[in-house]
Order: sequence, then C-alpha cells, then structure tokens
Amino acid sequence: MILATFASSTLWSTVTLGYAALTLCLILLVKTLVKPYMSGNIPPFPARPYPILGHLPYFANGQRQKLLEFRKTTGDIFSMFFGSQLFVVVNGPRLVKEVLVKHPDTMNSRPPQPFVDQGDYGVVFSNGAMWKEQRSVSQAILRSFGMGKSSLSHKISEEIGIYLDTLAALDGKPKDVRTLTAASISNVICSIMVGKRFDYDDPLFKSFVENFTRQIAAFDNMSVVAIWPWLRYIPGNFLGAKTVNMCAQIIRQEFGDKFIELALKEDGEDAAPTFITSYIKEMKKAQKQGNDTTLSMEQLRINLQQLFIAGTDTTATTLTWFLVYMLNYPKIQSKMYEEICSVMGPERAPDMQDKVKLPYTNAVIMETQRLASIAPQRYAKH
Ligand code: HEM
Repeated sequence: MILATFASSTLWSTVTLGYAALTLCLILLVKTLVKPYMSGNIPPFPARPYPILGHLPYFANGQRQKLLEFRKTTGDIFSMFFGSQLFVVVNGPRLVKEVLVKHPDTMNSRPPQPFVDQGDYGVVFSNGAMWKEQRSVSQAILRSFGMGKSSLSHKISEEIGIYLDTLAALDGKPKDVRTLTAASISNVICSIMVGKRFDYDDPLFKSFVENFTRQIAAFDNMSVVAIWPWLRYIPGNFLGAKTVNMCAQIIRQEFGDKFIELALKEDGEDAAPTFITSYIKEMKKAQKQGNDTTLSMEQLRINLQQLFIAGTDTTATTLTWFLVYMLNYPKIQSKMYEEICSVMGPERAPDMQDKVKLPYTNAVIMETQRLASIAPQRYAKH
C-alpha cells in the first residue's frame, strides 16, 4: 500500500515536471516565433525566423545573394534576427542617407563587441562622447598628414617602388603576394604613425605583420561569438576568440609600446610630427587645460592597433582584387599602361596629382572597388 502511494506520487511528480518542462518549451517557442511578429513598431521580416537561430540558416550559402533577395521581396528596409538579436537592415543610398543624416544620435554607436576585451575603447569600437573625441582628434591628425590628399603620396610612391622591386626580384617565380601586400600597406601606415618605414625582413616588423594577419584571420568566426557571447568562455580556444584577444594584446603591448618609444626617440625640434607625437601633444594639451578628456596612452595604443587593422586589411584586400582582375583582363591592363605611358612617359610612376589626367586608370580602380565590394555592410555609426 505504502509502495503503491509512493509509486503514484512519483508518477504524479514526473507528470507535473513533464508539464512544466513542456509549458516552458512552448513559452520559449512562442517567444521566438511569435513575439517578433507581435512587436508592432519594427520593419517587416522577409521570412520567418527559426527557433533559437533566427534568420541565420537563410545565410548558409552566403549573405550577399540572400540579402539582395530579401531586399527584392521585402523592400529597402527590413528586420532580421541573428539568434535573439534584432537587426534592422537599411538598403539603398536614399534611405541610408536619410537614416544617417536625420537620426545621427541614434546611429552614432555600434552594437557591443563581446569578443574583444576593451571593445568599447579606440576610434573603431568606442561610442558616444568617447568616440567623438577619439575620432575628431585622430581624423584631424591624419588629415594634417595628408590622408586623402596629395602630400601623403610621396610616402606611398616610395613604398610602391620597394614593393615592385621585391616583386621583380621574384623573377617570375609564383608567390602568394597577400602578406607582402599587407606589409607594404602597413609600412605606409607606419610612416604616418611612427615616422619611419621598416624593411620587410625587419624582425620586429615581420612579427608585427604576422600577429595582426593572425588576428584578422581569427575574426572570421567572431560574428558567431557576437551573437552568443558565452561561446568565448568555452574551455580551449573555441572559434578562435582567444587568438583575437591574445594578438590584440601583443600588438598593443609589445608593438604599441615599441612604436611609441621609437616615435618619441625620433621626436625633437626639427623632427616631422607623427600620429603618435601629435596624439600625445593633444592629450597633454587637454589635460593641462583641465578638460574632461578621453585621450590617454591606453587609448593611443588601442587606436594604433585599430588603425593598422582597419587600414591594412581593407586596402591590401582591394589591391589583391585589383591584381586578380588585371591578371584575368590583360587587355584592360594594357590599356591602362598605355594611358599612363602616354601621360607621363614610361619612366615616371603616376602619383595622386596625376589622378585627374588618367580617367581610364581611375575608372579601372573604381570598378575594382565596386566589383570587389569588400565592405558592403556596415554597423551604424558614421
Ligand atoms: C580600400 C580601403 C578601405 C575601405 C574599403 C574601408 C572601409 C571602411 C568601412 C566600410 C568602415 C565602416 C564605416 C562606419 O561604420 O562608419 C570603415 C571605418 C574605418 N576605417 Fe576604413 N576603409 C579603408 C581604408 C582605411 C584606411 C587606410 C584607414 C586608416 C589608416 C582606415 C581607418 C578606418 C577607421 C579608423 C574606421 C572607423 C571609423 C569610426 O568608427 O569612426 N580605413 N572603413
């Protein structure tokens, strides 16, 4: 009898527990499937989200084609879930401009970057007032050095000369030129940041390029960690989140400090200013005036690391696409060469001032950027 009562009460608790678990699952399912559609004031969804994954499975065969398809079926603005995070996708120049220009305060932040330690520092990942100060100081310094102007072009021309000599020395032997291209771009950035370029074989520079190339490769999986941040705490180096942070730390501490030391050593009455010395000057000025400033040595180290990464990978990838297109379209390559020779002769290389005289060459460069389209999406902030 006692045994029977015990058995039936165990059965009841199991049934109750089963019901509770089922109810919880149903609530979670309804929350995932129905809630998005019920929250009124958001743009439409192009397709039904999957439980837990949201719209991610739709991108199993790549993002670009699917996003174009969603735009066609749903319009220039639509919503998507990556995991449980809501994204609103805005397409087309008219709507993008409207969003950025009419709502600058809503758009001046990026989503949190849970895969990077100190993700809210430095010009790329900071937000709000910190970003405004880091951005305006960095931009003013870069502009004063000729970023986007012709005065930077002699540094670029010098580097291109060495890059071409290195390629010529290969004497036709096959080589993956990606690392060399990244190193040459980094060298241009080095001359702005530190005031000097490095030999491609310099051990400090080689190890620096290796580290940030490793970091960029590890970024590939970080969009998954951004959706489910707990993934980075799985023991081991699951998805490479530890590599991203380890390389960032090495770049900041070992190279950042070395570069700062080098720039300060070269600094003097007659020395040309560098990004590092100009930033430190601005920082000291703000501190002396008693301003509530976000400029600091730690921010400088992070800015250096971010500028190298933001500037190198983008430019090197664009150049690599250019090489791929030129190898595949030799007629276009010849036509460009003829234009350059007819304007400046076969000896002198073109520089930024010659840009207006070379419409065909310019068109090829712009067409490369359009076709390669290496950064078709961006996350808020302008
Ligand atoms: C072909 C070359 C390049 C491409 C395609 C490119 C593309 C982009 C894109 C799409 C963004 C995001 C814009 C935003 O979210 O507001 C960005 C941001 C940025 N880029 Fe570039 N970039 C290139 C070269 C460079 C260079 C050479 C540097 C510096 C040395 C640089 C530094 C930055 C920085 C610091 C940001 C963050 C700006 C901020 O958040 O305020 N980029 N870039």
